[in-house]
Amino acid sequence: MTDLSAFIAGLPKAELHLHIEGSLEPELMFELGRRNAIALPFKSVEEVRAAYAFSNLQDFLDIYYQGAGVLMTERDFHDLAMAYFTRVAADGCRHVEMFFDPQTHTDRGLPFDVAIEGLLSGMAEAERSLGVSAKLIMCFLRHLDEDAAFATLKAAEPWLDRIVGVGLDSSEVGHPPSKFAGIYRAARERGLKLVAHAGEEGPPAYVWEALDLLKVDRIDHGNRALEDPALVKRLAAEGMTLTVCPLSNLKLCVVDDLKAHPLKRMLDLGLHATVNSDDPAYFGGYLGENWVRTATAIGLTRDELVTLAKNSFTGSFLTEAQAAPHLAAIEAYAASPS
Ligand code: HPA
Ligand code: ZN
Repeated sequence: MTDLSAFIAGLPKAELHLHIEGSLEPELMFELGRRNAIALPFKSVEEVRAAYAFSNLQDFLDIYYQGAGVLMTERDFHDLAMAYFTRVAADGCRHVEMFFDPQTHTDRGLPFDVAIEGLLSGMAEAERSLGVSAKLIMCFLRHLDEDAAFATLKAAEPWLDRIVGVGLDSSEVGHPPSKFAGIYRAARERGLKLVAHAGEEGPPAYVWEALDLLKVDRIDHGNRALEDPALVKRLAAEGMTLTVCPLSNLKLCVVDDLKAHPLKRMLDLGLHATVNSDDPAYFGGYLGENWVRTATAIGLTRDELVTLAKNSFTGSFLTEAQAAPHLAAIEAYAASPS
């Protein structure tokens, strides 16, 4: 292990942008396919991995929704979550705010409760056995209409005390945040936190809409905000957290080369950026790998790494009292001789 990767491994971190369905490794996909008697269009794990060459977000989404089709029971969702938590606990991750896509599952006939029951039981086990805390964010699929999002919020009604917030994911271009202003108002009225993917492939105008029309608490990705200096100024002034996903950006061709990743520029511009994995089974790395490869490619300093770690907790939906011990642990770690 290099000095840099050892330093990163020991740094307490939170992950704020993780689609749990995107942590489905090909090995588990085959196991669940067998368990549930669902045939996969691939002969081997190697063949699945070879199919993970994407030129844009939609290329990925097509294969990601297909993969999620093997998830059938509460136990499947529990096992998926525990496989993820076990992996990121080893990366020094202490807290996760996890997205799930209920419509991906209800649209293929699963009752709403199956995914959420399984995920909540995985989250409880992770807290008990690994000491990793977690909160759940329910995403609406933006390629579907707002009525479908309202039906999803209605199905989630009995669970709202166990969902911290709502998000917006799937195909961005052509599905602006404005399409979901009504459902975000309804979610806000229910006291839910609000996040939305914006500026991954979509223009800066989508980030403005997420702020002004959806009134989000965080922006997921936000890369294209850098094209608009007035927007950068607004995001910096508000201390708006951006959940940046470097290896996802590379795999989906949002950046051509990790060396050209704008994370350092974001920090220099005073933006409250964080590092996250997005869909680690598809994009070639979990949280630690995102940190190490990005830090190596763009030359992040220890101070910048410490800032990113603090941002991951101050940008989380933990209360100040819940975040405080993590921030203190980061301070102590940064001050210890290494
Ligand atoms: N962008 C949009 N939708 C998604 C993503 C993403 O990176 N991952 C899973 N759903
Ligand atoms: Zn995402």
